[in-house]
Amino acid sequence: MTKQNDQSFIDQLTLPEKAALVSGKDAWYTATLERVGLKRLMMTDGPSGLRKQNTNAAVTGINDSVTAVSFPSSALTASSFDRDALNQLGHHLGKAARAEKVGVLLGPGINLKRSPLAGRNFEYFSEDPYLAGEMASAYVDGVQAEGVGVSVKHFAANNRENQRFTMSSDMDERTLRELYLTAFEKVVKHSHPATLMCSYNAINGTLNSQNKRLLTDILRDEWGFKGLVMSDWGAVADHTAAIQAGLDLEMPGKGPASTQEIVDAVNAGALSEHDLNRSVLRVLKLVSDYRPESETVEKYDLDEQHQFARKLAGESMVLLKNENVLPLKQGRSLAVIGELAEHPRYQGGGSSHVNAYQVVTPLDAIHKADAKAVYEAGYQLDSETADQKRLDAAVSAAKQADQVLIFAGYPASRESEGFDKTSLALPDNQNALIDAVTAVNDHVTVVLQNGSVVLMPWADKVQGILETYLAGEAVGEATWDILSGDVNPAGRLAETFPIRLADTPSYLTFNADPEHENYREGLFMGYRYYDKKQVPVAFPFGFGLSYTTFKYANLQLNIGSDSVTAQLSVSNTGNVAGTETVQAYVANKASRIEKPVKALANFAKVALQPGETKTVSVTLDQRAFSWYNPEISDWQVDNGEYDILIGTSSQDIRLQATATLDWPQAAKPKVTLNSYIGDVLALPEAQAALKASGLTETFAALASGETTDQQMLLNIPLRSANMVGATQEQLTQFLTLMHEL
Ligand code: BGC
Repeated sequence: MTKQNDQSFIDQLTLPEKAALVSGKDAWYTATLERVGLKRLMMTDGPSGLRKQNTNAAVTGINDSVTAVSFPSSALTASSFDRDALNQLGHHLGKAARAEKVGVLLGPGINLKRSPLAGRNFEYFSEDPYLAGEMASAYVDGVQAEGVGVSVKHFAANNRENQRFTMSSDMDERTLRELYLTAFEKVVKHSHPATLMCSYNAINGTLNSQNKRLLTDILRDEWGFKGLVMSDWGAVADHTAAIQAGLDLEMPGKGPASTQEIVDAVNAGALSEHDLNRSVLRVLKLVSDYRPESETVEKYDLDEQHQFARKLAGESMVLLKNENVLPLKQGRSLAVIGELAEHPRYQGGGSSHVNAYQVVTPLDAIHKADAKAVYEAGYQLDSETADQKRLDAAVSAAKQADQVLIFAGYPASRESEGFDKTSLALPDNQNALIDAVTAVNDHVTVVLQNGSVVLMPWADKVQGILETYLAGEAVGEATWDILSGDVNPAGRLAETFPIRLADTPSYLTFNADPEHENYREGLFMGYRYYDKKQVPVAFPFGFGLSYTTFKYANLQLNIGSDSVTAQLSVSNTGNVAGTETVQAYVANKASRIEKPVKALANFAKVALQPGETKTVSVTLDQRAFSWYNPEISDWQVDNGEYDILIGTSSQDIRLQATATLDWPQAAKPKVTLNSYIGDVLALPEAQAALKASGLTETFAALASGETTDQQMLLNIPLRSANMVGATQEQLTQFLTLMHEL
C-alpha cells in the first residue's frame, strides 16, 4: 500500500493538489485531499493551555475556544528552574491536545526577553539562552511523548511586538548565535520538535519567512532539523521565495489564491517542482506522524490538570522580600487589599489566551481556607486614577489589621501579544495605594501579578514581596499555598528586575526605529549587561528567597575530556523543608574576545529536609566554554582558565574554583607576524619554539615588562621585532615551528 508520506504518493498528486498542501486550509488545519483520501491535521495554540477554537471563530477570538486548563505562563514556569516540572506540563498539554484531536500544539515560545518592555515576555521563558533552551526542551519532550507535535516559536530574534511583521532585528553574528539562536539550537538538537514556526520579523534585512540562511543553512544543514517549518500566522510575504528558502507551510492559507499563486509560479518556472515537492513531503510526513488516528473520544482529567497547574504555579512563584512577614501568622487579623485578589490576572492576552476551566481567585482560596480576613478593593483595576473612597476604605482596613496583603500588578490592557509596553511602572493608583497602606501598617506584603518586570519604587517600604507572574487558573490556591506556608517558595527569577527602565541594556535602541531594531548592546543583555556594567538592580537573575536557608560547601571540579563536572554539598540549615536551585556559571578567562563576566551553564534543584545535606553534581559541557567565531563559522573553545561560580543567584556566588582546560580539541593559538611580542611570550604553547629559534634570549631583556620602555617594546608585532634585535631567520624559524604545532 502506498504510504501517504512517500515519493510515490506525491507522484500521484496534481500540481494544484500539491500547491494546496503547502498552505493551511484555514486558520487551524492543513489541507484535505479527498480524491486521494488525505485527511487534515489540526494545529492549536498554545503554550499555557489549549486554545482549540471552534471553526470559523476569529483568529484571536477567545470565547469560542474549548474549555481547557489555564496553566501558568512561561514567565512563571521558567522561574521553577525545574526540568521535570516542565516535562510534566508538556505531558498534560499533550494529553489535552490528543483528547481534542489536535495534532500540533503551537508552542512553546522561546524567544529571549531582550527588553522588559517587549509585549510578549509573559509567553517567553527567560533572558538567558541556556535556561530558555533547557525549559523548552523539557516541555517539548513532554508534549511529543504524548504523540502530539509541537511548533517551537518564533524562529528567530522576535524580541519586540511593534511592527513585528516588517521590522528587522539587526545584530552581529556572535550575538545571534550565542544569544538569540541558542535555545532553538538546543531544542532542535535535543528534542527534535515536529515543527518550528518562523517569526514575522527579518534578521539583518531578510524576512525570516524567506531567509534561506536561517531556515535551511543553519536550521537543517548545521543543526540537522528534519521537521517542518510553518510560518507564523500571516508571516509569508512572498510564498515562492519562502518555499525556496525552506519554509514548508504557509499559515493560515489564503484559500484558492494561495494555491493559484504556487501553480502559477511553477508554470512560469519561478518555483521548481523539486522545491515544491520537498515541502509537500514534509507536510505529508507531519500529517501522517501527528494526525490523531483515533476516532473514539479520549477523555482527560481536567481536575487533575488543575491540581498540576496549582502545584506548578506554587513551585515557581518567587519570594523577593520577606522581613519576617511570611508565612502569614495564623490567628492574627489579615487585610486583603487590591482588586486583583478578586479579579486576578492569571494569563496573558493574544493567541495564548485560554478559555479557563476553573479559575480560583486569591479571595476564593482565602475564604476556602477559613482565614480571618477582610477585603477591600483599594483601587479600580480598569483605571489608573485613584478612587478616593476605595483608597480610604483600604487604609482604614489596613490600620486595624495585624498583617496586610496588597495584590498589585499590570491590568490586562497593559500587556499583550501584538504591542510593546512603554513603561514598567504599575498604574499610579496602585503605587499610591501601596504608599498609603505602608504609612499605616508595617506588616505589608505585596503580591504581584504581572507578565513581566515591574518597577517597585516602594520596595523599601514593604516587608514582603511575592512575585506570582501570570499564574494560571489555580492562581488563588497556589498563592495561598505560599502565603500560608503550606508550600515553601522555591522559584528563582528567570530575568533581571531593574531599578529603572533607563538602566536596561536595550534602553537606547528598543523600538526607536519602526523598521530596524538595533541590538547594539550585543552580547551584553540581561544579567550579562548588569554584571559587566556594574549597574545595580532591584532583584538579580536567579534570585529568590525560601522559608529556610541553605549552606554550600566542598566544591570540587573534575575536568573531563569535553566537560567539567562540579560537585558540592548543599545543606538545609533552617527549620522547614525546602528546595534550593544550585546555579553554575562559567567565567571565561581564557578567550580574548568580548565576553560577559559570567554565563549560566547549568543548574540543579535539590530538595532538603531541615538539617539534611546532599551532594549535588552539575556537568558543564563543552558549549559552556565555547564562543561562536564568525571567522571560522563555528564554535571555538580556547584552552586556559575558567572560573566555575556556584551560586544561589547570579549575584550571590557561594563557591568558586578555577578549571584550567588543556583540551586537544581547543583552538590552536594563532601566531602570525602580526602577533605582539608580549602576547607571544605569554603563550605556554609558544615557549619551546621561542627557545629553539633563539627568541627567548633575544626578548629576555623585555620579558619582565617592568619598565615603561619594556612595556612599549612588548607592544610591537613580530613583523617589527627587528627593532628589538630579532633576526628574519629567527622569526621564520619560530613561525614554522608554531605552525607545525
Ligand atoms: C502568533 C502565534 C500564534 C498564531 C496562531 C500569531 O499571531 O504570533 O504565536 O501561534 O498567531 O494563533
